[in-house]
Amino acid sequence: MAAPRGEFSSRFGFLMAASGSAVGLGNIWGFPTNTASNGGAAFLIVYLVLTFALAYPALMAELIIGRHARSNAVTALKTIATSNGSKLLAVTVGVVGIITVSFILSFYAIVSGWMIAFFFDPLARLVGMDGLSQWLTTDTAVRNSIFVVVFMVMTVVIISAGVKDGIEKWATRLMPSLILILILLTLYVFTLPGAMDGLRAYLIPDFSRITDPQLLIDAMGQAFFSLSLGVGTMLVYGSYISKDENLPVVGSLVALLDVGIAVLAGLLIVPAMYVALANGVEIFDESGALIAGPGLIVSVLPALFNNMGSIGILVASAFFILMTIASLTSSISMLEVPVAYSVENHGVRRPVAALLIGGTITIISLIIVFNFDPLFDLVVNFTTERSQPLLSLFICIFAAWIWKRNDILQEIKSGCPEAENGIFWKIWPFYIKFICPVAILVVYFQ
Ligand code: PFF
Repeated sequence: MAAPRGEFSSRFGFLMAASGSAVGLGNIWGFPTNTASNGGAAFLIVYLVLTFALAYPALMAELIIGRHARSNAVTALKTIATSNGSKLLAVTVGVVGIITVSFILSFYAIVSGWMIAFFFDPLARLVGMDGLSQWLTTDTAVRNSIFVVVFMVMTVVIISAGVKDGIEKWATRLMPSLILILILLTLYVFTLPGAMDGLRAYLIPDFSRITDPQLLIDAMGQAFFSLSLGVGTMLVYGSYISKDENLPVVGSLVALLDVGIAVLAGLLIVPAMYVALANGVEIFDESGALIAGPGLIVSVLPALFNNMGSIGILVASAFFILMTIASLTSSISMLEVPVAYSVENHGVRRPVAALLIGGTITIISLIIVFNFDPLFDLVVNFTTERSQPLLSLFICIFAAWIWKRNDILQEIKSGCPEAENGIFWKIWPFYIKFICPVAILVVYFQ
């Protein structure tokens, strides 16, 4: 007998969990640097348009399919498939999604481990343990392995506890803390010299860039990664939403929270970089672009915090706890995808599934840690640039071309009885059928 399925206990619980999945390193690290290096507010405008015109419809496809089938991604896609061919496609898309999200988690855990190490660094300095501080901030395979394991243990513990007692409980604690820390840090950085230059670099639009294909590609990649699309995360979270919930509304709230927190993170990161510049820290690379890679988080910002004196210790801890929270609420959503599948389709007990799958992903992370140069970028690019957009494309195809239109409407009407006459139903089916697949393909082949 399969264990009874979990369900989020409230709209707030779902919103915190789903926005927790969406808000991650992609928002706080990826979005601000993408914006600053792609024409400031010009990127922001394109990003907003793409999020609401393309990523939101794709998000809705996942939420609607998930809630209709009330199951993990593989079974959910199979439920709406009508022929043997489409059932085979359903299993393929579901399983490739599970593999992709597991590999995303394997690199995400490494970066999240850095965040934990950098969180402990100011504490080590506070108590005068300079040797430990040196060890925590030096990029070694041993340090990275230890913190990958720490991060994965936290992820596994939360997922073992289930939907309500694990995911929802922790997301509702962590997400409000994240928003509070982000606002406090931003306000503090605004008071420092140089911050206004950063604000200008972040917000003043360079409209000459708006037609740049690279800007479009970056904005679309950012939008899909940020909303955790394609790999079944949102589909599985959708399967835990109550049938009384108004899906178009909760979906748009998730997208708004995701975008809102990304924009807010930009107000922190880009001004903080210019404050660092005013403190003599190098923030541009050889080509004159803002440093955006790991150097930003593990060298530019720590250099700034070090220059701040004793308050720097507090600011650094707050910043890295913020990054760790953002990572954790995303990583639990990733691990939930394979765990839900194993629990529902193979009868494995949840804690056992979480431990076995979490353990396997940790081993993959460790293999990447010890072979960083050949493997890290390869895994990141393959999962986020190749696999994720194609999977999203197939989920749109399932929702628009394979599933019966009337069944979709019935699902949306549950919790939103007036849906048939609403604006969502007038626009979304067309978007998901034509615009989303074509746009994803165009960007993919760029
Ligand atoms: N949305 C997360 C971020 O912006 O960092 C990343 C992510 C989470 C991607 C969950 C995929 C996923 F399934």
